[in-house]
Amino acid sequence: MAAASSPSTPSSLLSLLIVFLSLARSQSLAGDLHSRPKPKAILLPVRKDSATLQYTTTIRQRTPLVPVKLTVDLGAKSPWVNCEGGYVSSTYKPVLCGSKFCELAVFNSCSSTCYQPRPEPGCNNNTCGQFESNSFIPTAYYGELSTDAAVLRSTDGKNPGRAVSVPGGIVFTCGFDPLTQQLAKNAKGMLGLGRSGISLPSVLSYAFGFPNKFGMCLSSSRSHGVIIFGDGPYFLQPGKEVSDYLIYTPLILNPVSTAVLSFLDEPSSDYFINVTGIKVNGQAVRLNPTLLKINNSGNGGTKLSTVNPYTVMETSIYKAVTKAFLAQVKYLKRVGSVQPFEYCFNTTGVGSTRVGPAVPQIELLLGKSSWIIFGANSMVYVGNGETFCLGIVDGGTDAKTSIVIGGHQLEDNLVQVDMVNKRLGFTSSLLFYQTTCANFNFTVAA
Ligand SMILES: *[C@@H]1O[C@H](CO)[C@@H](O)[C@H](O)[C@H]1NC(C)=O
Ligand SMILES: *[C@@H]1O[C@H](CO)[C@@H](O)[C@H](O)[C@H]1NC(C)=O
Ligand SMILES: *[C@@H]1O[C@H](CO)[C@@H](O)[C@H](O)[C@H]1NC(C)=O
Ligand SMILES: *[C@@H]1O[C@H](CO)[C@@H](O)[C@H](O)[C@H]1NC(C)=O
Ligand SMILES: *[C@@H]1O[C@H](CO)[C@@H](O)[C@H](O)[C@H]1NC(C)=O
Repeated sequence: MAAASSPSTPSSLLSLLIVFLSLARSQSLAGDLHSRPKPKAILLPVRKDSATLQYTTTIRQRTPLVPVKLTVDLGAKSPWVNCEGGYVSSTYKPVLCGSKFCELAVFNSCSSTCYQPRPEPGCNNNTCGQFESNSFIPTAYYGELSTDAAVLRSTDGKNPGRAVSVPGGIVFTCGFDPLTQQLAKNAKGMLGLGRSGISLPSVLSYAFGFPNKFGMCLSSSRSHGVIIFGDGPYFLQPGKEVSDYLIYTPLILNPVSTAVLSFLDEPSSDYFINVTGIKVNGQAVRLNPTLLKINNSGNGGTKLSTVNPYTVMETSIYKAVTKAFLAQVKYLKRVGSVQPFEYCFNTTGVGSTRVGPAVPQIELLLGKSSWIIFGANSMVYVGNGETFCLGIVDGGTDAKTSIVIGGHQLEDNLVQVDMVNKRLGFTSSLLFYQTTCANFNFTVAA
């Protein structure tokens, strides 16, 4: 490019000068990074895309840095970013076979050869291969595992702090144009936060030396919610340290992958919890206990998902729960179904509470504790506000996972994935504590 038509001598002098200048710059940057303490936590603002109901965030990646919008995929093994259509970066590196991140991927493939005259992002020999999927299509591809420079915001849990570059870069698989179908407008990939050594939380914990934990607080409004990588505190206005409200339940490993495509014997990167029963308005719903367990084929159980906008239940569970709910809301007038929901009601006369419309609470029993779903998380307002629907959908009789706790049920709840103690922290509705996930103070502290 710099080749231009100018005589060769000045041009190479110029490039020498540029090399010298960039060396000087990178040294002062390195000096800067060394003199400052490592961040204890990293912050990502997350916003719901109203057209697709996807939760999206933007990271700054590559050299030179460009903003890259990604859809959050809580249960995916690693992030993926489209490498087609103009991926330009001088710091792109394939993860070579036998290298650290290839080992951390555990299940990988090193057989790939790219038959192109010159290497480019997504096309290098001797690299560690991974599957990457888009569960909205749903489709999976095999892509090159890579690293590239990234700059993210640090945080003290109260405000955004200084921008920091991730030592060693962030890890992702290289995606392709067709894999971006049905993603939110301008999204270039998906941000995998799942249970694996190469997911973003694991890589950031590795890079910065903070505990492998992250808190996710999805906003129900158009304002930003947050994901904070690293341990608490997590402050939401007005001055609430919301990690104080966390209660914990063990994270269960599903030994069989639940991804669109995976390697043989690869475990699931989804976060499963042990729901042992469901109550509606305090009364136990009769469920087939076998479906609540994960069987030898990896079927059954309960997981969390940011890809499903609403909670999905296997048919028999769906029928039992909705029947119990209907029996308790005789005071509401039923109206016609509104896709994708079956049970909708006229909102006239419904009381309102701090935690949303006054409807029976749905409790997910987790051994000694329970995750309570109040009106704000169970009901979805549709149309002009005169109608609301029970925000649970039927997953069919052949659902792979029996209960998938979806986005609407996660909103304005803080959940913390704690891989140090292999447990999930949850708060139930933060509205109960008079705050919301939109209440993080995004003003950069002086
Ligand atoms: C990869 O190796 C093959 C076989 O040695 C070679 O033909 C090809 O050009 C190489 N590809 C790249 C991108 O280096
Ligand atoms: C789930 O909870 C049930 C009831 O407490 C218990 O018997 C079972 O072992 C738990 N399952 C796992 C995988 O921890
Ligand atoms: C696991 O559950 C699925 C769906 O319920 C069933 O089709 C499959 O046969 C079960 N596998 C085992 C090993 O029990
Ligand atoms: C809801 O009920 C009110 C009062 O009975 C009625 O005026 C309104 O048209 C109803 N709306 C719908 C969507 O059924
Ligand atoms: C948000 O944080 C800034 C910087 O610390 C502070 O000056 C401001 O008062 C905070 N806003 C609120 C509403 O607390």
